[in-house]
Amino acid sequence: MPTKNTIKLKFESSRNLSPAPESLSAVKIKERYELFINGKFEEPHSKKYFDTINPANEKKLSLIAEADNTDVSKAVSAARNCYEKTWKKMPGKERGKYIYRIARMIQERAREFAVIETLDGGKPIRESRDFDVPAAANHFFYYAGWADKLQYAFPNRQPLPLGVAGQIIPWNFPLLMAAWKIAPALATGNTVVLKPAETTSLTALKLAEIIREADLPPGVVNIITGAGETGAALVNHPDINKIAFTGSTHVGKIIQKAIAGTSKKATLELGGKAANIIFEDAALDQAVEGIINGIYFNQGHVCCAGSRLFVQESVYKTVLQKLKDRMETLIVGDPMDKNTDIGAINSKEQLQVIHKYIKIGQQDGAEIYQPAGILPKKGFYCMPTLFTKVAQSNRLAQEEIFGPVLTIQTFRTDDEVIEKANNTPFGLSAGVWTDKGSKIFNLTRKLRAGVVWANTYNKFDPSSPFGGYKESGYGREGGLQGLEGYVGF
Ligand code: NAI
Ligand code: MG
Repeated sequence: MPTKNTIKLKFESSRNLSPAPESLSAVKIKERYELFINGKFEEPHSKKYFDTINPANEKKLSLIAEADNTDVSKAVSAARNCYEKTWKKMPGKERGKYIYRIARMIQERAREFAVIETLDGGKPIRESRDFDVPAAANHFFYYAGWADKLQYAFPNRQPLPLGVAGQIIPWNFPLLMAAWKIAPALATGNTVVLKPAETTSLTALKLAEIIREADLPPGVVNIITGAGETGAALVNHPDINKIAFTGSTHVGKIIQKAIAGTSKKATLELGGKAANIIFEDAALDQAVEGIINGIYFNQGHVCCAGSRLFVQESVYKTVLQKLKDRMETLIVGDPMDKNTDIGAINSKEQLQVIHKYIKIGQQDGAEIYQPAGILPKKGFYCMPTLFTKVAQSNRLAQEEIFGPVLTIQTFRTDDEVIEKANNTPFGLSAGVWTDKGSKIFNLTRKLRAGVVWANTYNKFDPSSPFGGYKESGYGREGGLQGLEGYVGF
């Protein structure tokens, strides 16, 4: 077990590490990106482009096309045409081959994808390299395998594709969310119009290049870029059969209203306010590492981030000290540096949201702790932040912050912590840290969350379903269950 001295040493040495920047040599970013419609890159009807920047230094990376209603209609009719004429008729075995090809090509260009993901979105290169890109490839591999086995996924039933899927994704896991959306849709015989988030379109456009090179029939996947208006045009297009959305609960509600009364199906993966619960019998060092990973991983830009920590009273002081010690060792800074733990906040707007909540927390009487250190002058950065003396009713403990901000509260009994953990409008994920299997089973049954991790956190596998309860949305992505959102009978 590290003593205070060894941690201090680690802190000093970690802050003194020489820079280890990832090379940019594998990467070509074009000056301008067009829309990917019907297998071709096309200029937008609007003739408008917007900047995408690197949030780590605020420098412009490229120009991205803005799709208007005409472009959206074009993309939807390309998808429809391909669906009717080619894709829905193609045997699953053949569809699967294309999906495998995409998976392999992502693997071949993993380095390029990782670097672009980090440049455009601000997440540490270690994360895009070791998590986002391999997980995206795995997702395509996994669903490629289902394409010719749908009769086993739905025994004694005849699963039929829905048609054209409109898919809208956020900026926190840009390539991975594209994979989560596209792979199951194609495996089940649907065609797709996907819109990435406006701050992080580059890896989706890189994926479009792969899809073209993989020789997919034109129109199977269309990728259109733009902001909320483009997304709304896609949602409201009459020829869309299914909406798959990941993003804020606010926009999720707008989408739900927009499709009410239509035959459009939807899966919505929205916000979260996960409880991470440490019992006194837990392996505390392991738990602290999991808590750190659960909230500071990806700058807290994670819908399932473990943003509310509940610690059993008897170990509260020990856990708090261990957390603070560990926070002192975290390296915040250049996301392209392989040593960096916490990279850049995705946008200026998101940084303002986080600062707003930090202020609200202090005004409400919570006590703030941030490790020592200096943030880079350019770019959007936030120190890992911890709040103690938080009341259950504080906005800090109720609302999604989507940043590296953790609240800590204490509890005495199982029933008390279950009630506190469930006292939120959200229900996406939770974590339980204890030595006792019986406690794990008791809590996993009673916590109203789509995913409950035990003695670990933020672990993903393409074969495991993911999704929420309550205001965290509905429908599941990943696993066998992830196929259900794309078929009818
Ligand atoms: P957002 O929900 O506005 O954006 C997500 C996607 O929806 C983007 O592609 C955006 O262009 C699109 N969009 C925006 N308005 C739309 C509309 N009316 N119709 C259709 N599509 C629309 O999220 P935003 O503003 O980037 O972040 C705000 C908050 O949302 C964050 O602070 C965080 O709390 C939460 N969020 C949750 C995510 C999750 O994974 N559950 C991901 C991103 C944000
Ligand atoms: Mg960007």
